[in-house]
Amino acid sequence: MKPRGIFITFEGMDGSGKTTQMHRLAERLRSMGRTILETAEPGGPPIAQKIRRILLDSANQELSPATEILLYFASRAQNVDQWIGPALARGEIVLSDRFTDSSLVYQGVGRGLGIDAVGELERIACRGLKPDLTILVDVDAEASLARAWARNEAQPHCETRMDDQAIEFHRKVYQAYHALAAAEPERVKLVNGRAAMDAIEREVWSIVSAHV
Ligand code: TMP
Repeated sequence: MKPRGIFITFEGMDGSGKTTQMHRLAERLRSMGRTILETAEPGGPPIAQKIRRILLDSANQELSPATEILLYFASRAQNVDQWIGPALARGEIVLSDRFTDSSLVYQGVGRGLGIDAVGELERIACRGLKPDLTILVDVDAEASLARAWARNEAQPHCETRMDDQAIEFHRKVYQAYHALAAAEPERVKLVNGRAAMDAIEREVWSIVSAHV
């Protein structure tokens, strides 16, 4: 796959505010006349959204770690084939709320499945497609869970299986995100998720404007 557009991903803990920041960036780029595809993982095309429901349904507590990682990559493969790849081939800017880095930190490290397993599945599902730029909206595990639970209480829904994991799991994920940012400083840019929304938006733009 030889992408021609620009592929930007947003990563971070649940409740980090990355989704809001991604929508704000999309609006800014659209107002500049750019064509934007917004997607989110797990999810995107309808088939991937069905996989999302299985993954996040709080009723599915028995989902095994192997099933979990395969389903995240199944959703990703569908998103890459049906939405992301074609949009990049058309020269568009693709913004994705999470991508393979999430599998690396949540399944590879959090679940202990290892980075080799993630690499093998990435080869099959993404066939070399990596983000050009990744914005990592940084909030720690405690703040993340407090925000996620507050949101779940305010708008009750059943997509809480990952939020229900123990705090130790979320701490491992947080550390893995920081290790990733340290390992790939050119691609993965950390922004302070505890700042005010407008300040975060300015920081995101100062990074992205150099790439678009
Ligand atoms: P979100 O839509 O609120 O970001 O929730 C998606 C959840 O799924 C979140 O807890 C992170 C988790 N996740 C993984 O564990 N692995 C993955 O590969 C992806 C994309 C998400």
